[in-house]
Amino acid sequence: MFITFEGCEGTGKSTQAGLLSTYLESLGKKVCLTREPGGTALGQNFRQIILNPENQRLVTRAELFLYFADRAQHVEELILPKLEEGIIVISDRYSDATYAYQGGGRGIELDLLRQLNEYACYKLVPDITILLDIDASTGLLRARKNRKEFNEENGDRIEQQTLDFHERVRKVYLELASAEPDRFLIVDANGTIEDVHARIIEKFTNWSGLEL
Ligand code: TMP
Repeated sequence: MFITFEGCEGTGKSTQAGLLSTYLESLGKKVCLTREPGGTALGQNFRQIILNPENQRLVTRAELFLYFADRAQHVEELILPKLEEGIIVISDRYSDATYAYQGGGRGIELDLLRQLNEYACYKLVPDITILLDIDASTGLLRARKNRKEFNEENGDRIEQQTLDFHERVRKVYLELASAEPDRFLIVDANGTIEDVHARIIEKFTNWSGLEL
């Protein structure tokens, strides 16, 4: 099973991905917890280049191909082998982030993104995608408060984009979720870590396609 977490900045995806992983392990499942960008050793380098606020000169097309390079490496080196071993893979972000950020945020055409993405990831689509949803401005405030990388006042290179950019990202995420209701679980990301975790577990266990 391939599970992804998606959402705007400051939704608590990483924390919630970790908690779901622990929950599944407590049921005796083998889980590989990973993320994009940066799920492989090479991918860590791509992550540094993409998110470092010093790289203001990085152009939109170069940014896009760095995300795809990261994904191609991630899928081939880590995700597919783990899935073949029967291990549950949970990724903190994946293809939908490209559609939301590079499509919604940067304005690149979705059809083009889909074609390039399918090539980068061998058409691997998650079985289930948990979309943590929060108002973009609330999320950005949270992200800036809890920052772990790049100590710039306004966050990493992507967090530094305008509120309008982040609102477009959220809009595309919600559109993707309504177009594929069988794959997406939309979870309200407001409230405490425990509240959100409980909502995720409830929706996840009710999800009809789940065979645990
Ligand atoms: P995060 O892992 O800390 O959320 O940071 C990753 C950032 O990269 C986040 O701002 C979303 C962005 N992103 C894209 O713009 N496109 C992508 O395809 C992915 C995976 C992430």
